[in-house]
Amino acid sequence: MDLKNYIASIENYPSEGIVFRDISPLMADGDAYRAATHEIVKYAEEKQIDMVVGPEARGFIVGCPVAYELGVGFAPVRKPGKLPRKTISVSYDLEYGSDTLSLHADAIKPGQRVLICDDLLATGGTIKATIELIEELGGIVVGCAFLIELKDLHGRDKIEGYDMITLMEY
Ligand code: PRP
Ligand code: HPA
Repeated sequence: MDLKNYIASIENYPSEGIVFRDISPLMADGDAYRAATHEIVKYAEEKQIDMVVGPEARGFIVGCPVAYELGVGFAPVRKPGKLPRKTISVSYDLEYGSDTLSLHADAIKPGQRVLICDDLLATGGTIKATIELIEELGGIVVGCAFLIELKDLHGRDKIEGYDMITLMEY
């Protein structure tokens, strides 16, 4: 199945000159959603994953079915003020300004093997911050899985040395 048939490309969204890659047609099609999930599960199967982590919000859409299929837990990485218990946080640079991501302080136990899932790798800021959070808790990031990689933004360079899979490239 060619998963790219289920990605919508929207020109000049959210701003002039950007082509937005939208995964919602893929999620809306049961066979395509399952095929994408199973490709990531296949990648993860040999890695002895203990936990899946996904950044808000589209990382939940990709990560939760993968965790379910692997039979392991899922921990959400969220924007500030959304997690009710003790958290750790990390700030990262955006093109203009900065952003912060948080994780519950007990979400990962030291030594646990973690798979990170997200819909899309762009500049790599989100994945890098997510790796920092997991490692601060003593977790081991054994894989990163994305539906889409935007090659021109070189996000891959920010996570050199980490194992990763992307199902589609633009
Ligand atoms: C998007 C996307 C990734 C991130 C990729 O999320 O879902 O998480 O940006 O960009 P980066 O590689 O440059 O960090 P966004 O922050 O828009 O949040 P959302 O999933 O809640 O829409
Ligand atoms: N599509 C979806 N999310 C994104 C994109 C995109 O093209 N770029 C950064 N986040």
